[in-house]
Amino acid sequence: MELRTQSFGNRRLLLHIAVPTCVLLYHCLSSTLVTPQHHILVTGGLGYIGSHTALSLVEAGYAVTLLDDLSNAQEEVFVRLQELAGGRSGALSFVKGDVGDQDLLRPLLDAGAFDAVIHFAAKKSVAESTVDPLGYYNTNVVGTLRLLEAMRGSGVRNLVFSSSACVYGAAQAPINESAPLQPLNPYGHSKAMAEQVMTDVSAADPSFRCLQLRYFNPVGAHPSGRLGEQPQQPTNLMPCITEVVLGRRPTLQVHGTDYPTQDGTAQRDYLHVLDLAEAHVAALRKLLSSPGLGCKAYNLGTGTGQTVLEVIKAFEMASGRSVPYVLAGRRAGDAAAAYASPLRAEEELGWRATRSLNQMCADHWRWTEGNPSGYLTDSGGVPA
Ligand SMILES: NC(=O)c1ccc[n+]([C@@H]2O[C@H](COP(=O)([O-])OP(=O)(O)OC[C@H]3O[C@@H](n4cnc5c(N)ncnc54)[C@H](O)[C@@H]3O)[C@@H](O)[C@H]2O)c1
Ligand SMILES: *[C@@H]1O[C@H](CO)[C@@H](O)[C@H](O)[C@H]1NC(C)=O
Repeated sequence: MELRTQSFGNRRLLLHIAVPTCVLLYHCLSSTLVTPQHHILVTGGLGYIGSHTALSLVEAGYAVTLLDDLSNAQEEVFVRLQELAGGRSGALSFVKGDVGDQDLLRPLLDAGAFDAVIHFAAKKSVAESTVDPLGYYNTNVVGTLRLLEAMRGSGVRNLVFSSSACVYGAAQAPINESAPLQPLNPYGHSKAMAEQVMTDVSAADPSFRCLQLRYFNPVGAHPSGRLGEQPQQPTNLMPCITEVVLGRRPTLQVHGTDYPTQDGTAQRDYLHVLDLAEAHVAALRKLLSSPGLGCKAYNLGTGTGQTVLEVIKAFEMASGRSVPYVLAGRRAGDAAAAYASPLRAEEELGWRATRSLNQMCADHWRWTEGNPSGYLTDSGGVPA
């Protein structure tokens, strides 16, 4: 694919080449298949969840264009996606660019004949959002606004949006979609604001439809060991565990041992990233087959909480390594338990998570062991 070689310094050049190639690609694909494929734009498509979703989409028969500015991803992801897609790799293309760049987005949307957009592109660190709120509101809120404007201009009416359980703040578990939105940090606020914007857009123009997917705690990796989460100053439990096992941190700090849970440690709803990827395929099917849907939120989780100590134990079992940890005090802003009521997704999207905590740990470890520096080599910069 020519599209994947674009890492142009010059955007105008990018547009000249990207857009016609995109159209050509779409027509070729449409004409060689019995039924024309739906064409989906996936923003943030080289990221952790986006890449797994892209593969699930291609496997389900969709044609997929990935848009990513590489701010938190490597082009190597696209190479691996093509490899994993095998005979279907022609259904994948990549455009390098910023979702907030209207001069890029409008022509891309005009030319692509997209049936829907799945919008992953965002900044995602809660901790970082508290020191860089403007950066977070800019990418996550203004970026989404720009995307919505471009979609309106180009007549693309369907959106699947990556939201987060963060929008609920410290709600009482099990959390369903009627719980009030009370985010506790700029990241959570940015997701709630973006949801509000698209809800209002849909109210003003009912032909615009969106599904807001509120993820609980995605972990794990593709079972091939070729796709996973790029490690980087982790604050989430699973990446912290692997840092310790790889010897990059001496011990794991377990924050809070006196919560009202079975062993006193905090409980979260961990979800295999492949289950999450499949939820996007289910969401897309729902979106493309439900006129008059408006905007609707869905929790994506397993519906069960796992404590920190349970995750450590499961990881040790799955990896055969020990995870040295120390017990420490509670961390400000952490809830005791946060897990989903996933019933709405089950009933209306026909989706439920099926992979076990053991599979999450085994797949996460396979990816980490095979790619200790993620998509980078240890010499830095160059893909493995
Ligand atoms: N990983 C989680 O724990 C989690 C939980 C809840 C919600 N989410 C949301 O899911 C989405 C995907 O998360 P992820 O874990 O895959 O993160 P990620 O950082 O791996 O993926 C995001 C991708 O978007 C790209 N990107 C960032 N800003 C961009 C921009 N302006 N234009 C184009 N591309 C841009 C990055 O390069 C990256 O590849 C995000 O919206 C995130 O907020 C993630
Ligand atoms: C959602 O959760 C609240 C609080 O637990 C509960 O009162 C309400 O009945 C639940 N709604 C549905 C639709 O299950």
